[in-house]
Amino acid sequence: MNLIRLVYYSRASREMSLGDLKSILEVARSNNDSLEICGMLSYDKQYFLQALEGERGAVNELYLDIADDPRHDEINIISYEYIDAPCFKQWQMGYAGSSAEFTRLLSDLGQSEFLPDEMTPQQALSFLQHLSGNQADI
Ligand SMILES: Cc1cc2nc3c(=O)[nH]c(=O)nc-3n(C[C@H](O)[C@H](O)[C@H](O)COP(=O)(O)O)c2cc1C
Repeated sequence: MNLIRLVYYSRASREMSLGDLKSILEVARSNNDSLEICGMLSYDKQYFLQALEGERGAVNELYLDIADDPRHDEINIISYEYIDAPCFKQWQMGYAGSSAEFTRLLSDLGQSEFLPDEMTPQQALSFLQHLSGNQADI
């Protein structure tokens, strides 16, 4: 099986409410469960940063659907790599938004606000991995 991890960021088309995020996650979790895709989503104010892990064809197809979603634009792939094992396998789609830990991780990267477009692929992945252990319960 060709397992891959795709990480992208995008710009939210407007500020997301808790309800907006819940409805994204509800659909994502149910779809990803049946597609055997896992990952982690983060959002703050303007940007989304998301990792998707799973079988190559399934992730590619899902990414194309996500990229078409009018709730965000300016989608940019940060990294696309073949992996031996998923690192977000506990989560059909984990989520983390602004929190003290989120701010601390950003400041470690020299950011005072969430700017995933300025993260290297390693920084983006490590940011999501750290957040996956510190998630908002939504
Ligand atoms: C930032 C963002 C992340 C998303 N992540 C996922 C995801 O991981 N899985 C998913 O199925 N849909 C995700 N969606 C929703 C998809 O864009 C799309 O609405 C959904 O796949 C459509 O499902 P349906 O064809 O079953 O209605 C995301 C949307 C946004 C804006």
